Amino acid sequence: MFLPLFLFAGLGATQFLTAFYNPILPGFHPDPSCIFVPEDENFYCASSSFNVFPGIPIHASQDLTTWRLVVGNVLNRPSQLPSLAISNGSTSGIWAPALRYHNGTFYVVTTLVHDKKAPEDPNRWDNIIFETKDIWNHSTWSDAVHFDFEGYDTSPYWDEEGTEYIVGSHAYRVEPGIHLAKVDLKTGEVKTNWTNLWNGTGGLAPEGPHIFKKDGYHYLMIAEGGTGLGHMETIARSKDLFGPYDPNPTNPILTNANTSSYFQTVGHADLFQDGRGNWWGVALATRSGPEYITYPMGRETVLTNVTWENGSWPTFNDPILGAMRGWQLPRIIQNLPGDGPYVTEGDDNLQFAPGSKMPPHFVHWRFPIGDSYTISPEGHSNTLRLKPSRLNLTGIDGNAGGPGGQTFVGRRQVDTLFTYHVDIDYTPKTLEEEAGVTLFLTQNHHARLGIALLPLSNTTTLVPHFRFHAISYISVPPSFSIPVPPAWTNKPLTLQIRTVNTTHYSFSAGPVGKPLQIFAYAPGDIVSWGFTGTLVGVYATGNGRNGTEAAYVSNWDYVGWGQVRENGAVPVVV
Ligand SMILES: *[C@@H]1O[C@H](CO)[C@@H](O)[C@H](O)[C@H]1NC(C)=O
Ligand SMILES: *[C@@H]1O[C@H](CO)[C@@H](O)[C@H](O)[C@H]1NC(C)=O
Ligand SMILES: *[C@@H]1O[C@H](CO)[C@@H](O)[C@H](O)[C@H]1NC(C)=O
Ligand SMILES: *[C@@H]1O[C@H](CO)[C@@H](O)[C@H](O)[C@H]1NC(C)=O
Ligand SMILES: *[C@@H]1O[C@H](CO)[C@@H](O)[C@H](O)[C@H]1NC(C)=O
Ligand SMILES: *[C@@H]1O[C@H](CO)[C@@H](O)[C@H](O)[C@H]1NC(C)=O
Ligand SMILES: *[C@@H]1O[C@H](CO)[C@@H](O)[C@H](O)[C@H]1NC(C)=O
Ligand SMILES: *[C@@H]1O[C@H](CO)[C@@H](O)[C@H](O)[C@H]1NC(C)=O
Ligand SMILES: *[C@@H]1O[C@H](CO)[C@@H](O)[C@H](O)[C@H]1NC(C)=O
Ligand SMILES: *[C@@H]1O[C@H](CO)[C@@H](O)[C@H](O)[C@H]1NC(C)=O
Ligand SMILES: *[C@@H]1O[C@H](CO)[C@@H](O)[C@H](O)[C@H]1NC(C)=O
Ligand SMILES: *[C@@H]1O[C@H](CO)[C@@H](O)[C@H](O)[C@H]1NC(C)=O
Repeated sequence: MFLPLFLFAGLGATQFLTAFYNPILPGFHPDPSCIFVPEDENFYCASSSFNVFPGIPIHASQDLTTWRLVVGNVLNRPSQLPSLAISNGSTSGIWAPALRYHNGTFYVVTTLVHDKKAPEDPNRWDNIIFETKDIWNHSTWSDAVHFDFEGYDTSPYWDEEGTEYIVGSHAYRVEPGIHLAKVDLKTGEVKTNWTNLWNGTGGLAPEGPHIFKKDGYHYLMIAEGGTGLGHMETIARSKDLFGPYDPNPTNPILTNANTSSYFQTVGHADLFQDGRGNWWGVALATRSGPEYITYPMGRETVLTNVTWENGSWPTFNDPILGAMRGWQLPRIIQNLPGDGPYVTEGDDNLQFAPGSKMPPHFVHWRFPIGDSYTISPEGHSNTLRLKPSRLNLTGIDGNAGGPGGQTFVGRRQVDTLFTYHVDIDYTPKTLEEEAGVTLFLTQNHHARLGIALLPLSNTTTLVPHFRFHAISYISVPPSFSIPVPPAWTNKPLTLQIRTVNTTHYSFSAGPVGKPLQIFAYAPGDIVSWGFTGTLVGVYATGNGRNGTEAAYVSNWDYVGWGQVRENGAVPVVV
């Protein structure tokens, strides 16, 4: 829809919209990096994806409030970065992509972190560059170009002559700090030594640096304090790119630390100007309240307005709240192309029709293997066929994947309250083979309800069982298995995960079209950990054996029905 601008010309300035809600990208969208591109008047944001594939989602918006995964994912072909397949560890994978646009090209500079490797092992850090000239066609993103840097959170910077630099968070073998070098973004050649610019104000883990040139100063903005309750954003500046950098006397410039806000862990920010020249900031935040116990959606992307006067330091509108007012919001002047989902309409109702493709917001844990996932295979129209992997969701030691992968496909939980269910047509034939639904944070933090072939108690007779299993670093509800009622066997069953309130999930099942029976409850704190956010999805496994039977998944349905944005609030039913 094209809205002629003159329609608004008669409205007074007070009529302009300034109110927006956080998070702007709910669910697992940490470490945001956002830009405004004057040529098409779009805002674009990248966020961290860790082990999930496709990875590095790019969301676009015209008005800063409606965001759409319209552009797809930067990392969308295994050949771009084959080593994601061996990213051992639940906190490994893609950390903190920095998105920038320069002279007609979009760049994403990021790190594939092998977090299980020793801190002093230089192979822990695989720093990479992706680029495209056509952000609307995800196939045009380049393969990863690798460059040497013993650290992470790398971000590109260009000086007035167009010379290319990368700034990053150097780690471990020297004192943690922010380092800069000239790097050829085409080849990855590091052309100078890394220069230590600043170590921050003394907070833990100085990281997430971005450099901005303004009014004769280079501003170096970083995150400190670690990505927990002490997280904050600080800034220093220098007339010379290589320093010395003078810290802002009123650091931190953004934090929710020591507040009672529902939004905590605010930091890892980026800055950009809209078409009117107003400044905005994005950061990550966790909807946990100061208790910081239950936050299954993990680190999400929030927006705030920023004032940055000539020659002076930027000031963020903080603390971050669920409902805020900022500068006049840009209007939507044209629909964004493509068919990716809007984050505000995060619901799925998927039939897996013949000829359809996996939607861009569906993710696997590392790469999908072989023909484990087929939409509408012959004889099974309108289903997604899952072939079992030998490994279950825990994988090898809860950390590694294996050559056969882990058959799993899911989507992010983006609503405080939601219902997710699928129908599964599945008759397991060999001992221990299993398919079902999971609330998945990592290999070491998830809960699953499946249909598994197990011996009837005290016999050798194998019958399908409902099996519930949860794993976390904290205590979990007990695992159990109970025979599927005979009247329910040999027919498709509905399996469902639903929030019962803001702290608990239920796992239920029943014959398709019949009322479901709740088999288990699980608290959200068992999936509140680390750097990622929960996914809901389906899996199929032989639990360490070679399974034989495929599971046919249909009527995939995710409906969000409540978004909590402040402490103790009654959920907003949407
Ligand atoms: C911008 O890109 C064009 C062609 O892609 C090139 O000719 C020009 O030198 C570049 N300008 C800068 C400042 O890098
Ligand atoms: C997208 O890019 C790929 C790879 O360059 C190309 O083959 C394809 O034709 C492009 N698609 C469109 C719609 O431009
Ligand atoms: C880089 O550092 C090495 C070792 O400290 C030094 O020998 C070399 O001269 C430096 N190179 C440049 C370009 O500064
Ligand atoms: C950062 O810390 C290291 C170790 O204490 C110190 O040698 C270095 O000078 C500091 N860097 C800056 C820019 O202050
Ligand atoms: C929060 O308060 C503690 C205790 O007073 C203080 O040490 C810390 O620096 C504060 N954090 C921030 C980010 O202001
Ligand atoms: C900012 O201030 C400097 C120094 O006073 C001045 O030279 C420059 O023109 C100003 N820039 C803007 C955009 O006002
Ligand atoms: C944020 O925007 C509001 C207008 O809605 C303005 O009054 C306030 O000064 C701004 N704050 C910052 C820090 O930019
Ligand atoms: C990942 O873990 C597996 C199994 O423990 C091991 O064989 C492999 O060498 C590890 N890969 C890396 C890159 O550390
Ligand atoms: C299975 O055997 C155990 C002891 O061996 C017994 O206590 C239990 O009642 C038996 N269960 C059934 C279902 O027969
Ligand atoms: C949420 O639901 C769970 C499971 O029914 C229950 O144990 C818990 O007390 C509920 N919490 C609140 C705050 O109502
Ligand atoms: C997952 O698979 C492993 C073998 O890979 C097996 O040891 C473990 O018991 C399985 N977990 C569950 C809950 O079935
Ligand atoms: C399981 O499958 C793998 C890969 O196809 C094969 O190498 C292996 O022999 C099979 N194991 C059994 C016990 O059938």
